[in-house]
Amino acid sequence: MNKLFKSIIVLVLVSWSTFAYANNPDVLPPKQMKWSFDGPLGNFDRTSIQRGFKVYKEVCAACHSVKHLYFRNLQEIGFSAEEVKSLAASYMVKDGPNDEGEYFERPGKPFDRIPGPYANDNAARASNNGALPPDLSLIVKARVDGANYLYSLLTGFEPAPEGFTVGENMHYNPYFAGGGMQLAMTPPLVSDNQVEYSDGTKATIDQMAQDVTNFLQWAAEPEMEARKSLGLKTIIFTAAFTLIFYIAYKRIWRNVK
Ligand code: HEC
Repeated sequence: MNKLFKSIIVLVLVSWSTFAYANNPDVLPPKQMKWSFDGPLGNFDRTSIQRGFKVYKEVCAACHSVKHLYFRNLQEIGFSAEEVKSLAASYMVKDGPNDEGEYFERPGKPFDRIPGPYANDNAARASNNGALPPDLSLIVKARVDGANYLYSLLTGFEPAPEGFTVGENMHYNPYFAGGGMQLAMTPPLVSDNQVEYSDGTKATIDQMAQDVTNFLQWAAEPEMEARKSLGLKTIIFTAAFTLIFYIAYKRIWRNVK
């Protein structure tokens, strides 16, 4: 029975992992990076997340939304209430209808969602040769090995090998399993210092890719730290009780042979 159970698990895992890469053996598995959020005690690297937000805002936001994020959420990664307020005010958001039944635009407030670059999906496709840049707020959760995949994708653009035909307006990337190693996204991170970091960190392509990955990991699971610390507390609590009950058990049965 135990053996059967084990074989089923192995079978499921193997077929699942081959499913992801089997249809194209040349697709590379994601590079395995070390992240601060890895493991049962992992936590967020807030300075990296803040830099990552800058990368998102100045590079990715030209094409991608993060529609599940509100401006006020940015306080969780270390922005002050004042900073969030003035950042929100630098965007125009759609509101309404007003008393006359009209929709109107006004400067953003901390309780607004961060607006995306396009009014709707059709407008997004029209600006990207028919391809839809997906919303990035949950992308890390929506891909197998999400953070490693995202980092690999961003740093993985390269010239196509000989004999590989890349379609018009497409770009070769061996980590892009979804569409046969070519995608409609122009390589977004192409030169060092594409963004200017205010904390003195050198903005290499690799650094920017790591930072934006940290940002999108946080965006996809902002409650991760609370979840992990609750898990740890539960383990400590259960261990302590096991010990107490063990001592009680020994004492109660002490005189019984
Ligand atoms: C010029 C527009 C543009 C910019 C800038 C851009 N992207 Fe994209 N992105 C796209 C398009 C278009 C697609 C859809 C590609 C496809 O499906 O072929 C895409 C797809 C993606 C995907 C999905 C890949 C998958 O597995 O389906 C991710 C993740 C992504 N972009 C991340 C980013 C990040 C992070 C940045 C900023 C560093 C960024 N993009 C900047 C246009 C852009």
